[in-house]
Amino acid sequence: MAARRMDLILAMFVALGGLSLARAEPPVAPAPPAEAAPVEPGLALIQGRCVGCHEVGFILQTRRSATEWGDIVSEMVGRGADLTDDEAAQVRTYLEKNWSTPAKAP
Ligand code: HEC
Repeated sequence: MAARRMDLILAMFVALGGLSLARAEPPVAPAPPAEAAPVEPGLALIQGRCVGCHEVGFILQTRRSATEWGDIVSEMVGRGADLTDDEAAQVRTYLEKNWSTPAKAP
């Protein structure tokens, strides 16, 4: 009897484990490797001013919507990224142009 109850408990664990695996979805917007980032002035700014706190690879690991990039750049300036308004705009434009999620079909 006790053994059967253990089987039942085991089966529940397996089922729950299966469920949580099924929920582990792939990245929403996988990005190309950071090395593939087009060499434009915005990239130099990212390489120069955004890497005090985390690596370029961390920034470029996910594509994001243009709106998200705008919010993130503002947030990072708030956190202390050393960018003038013009430079922040360049970084935002660079990320929007090269690293955003494809525009949604209308
Ligand atoms: C003063 C330190 C600092 C600088 C400089 C900085 N960041 Fe960040 N960044 C952070 C911190 C702290 C986080 C939050 C990490 C976390 O949530 O685990 C973060 C998170 C991020 C994230 C992930 C946000 C998310 O919600 O997934 C991105 C993308 C990012 N930074 C981009 C940038 C870019 C682009 C720049 C340059 C314009 C920059 N960061 C400069 C501190 C900084």
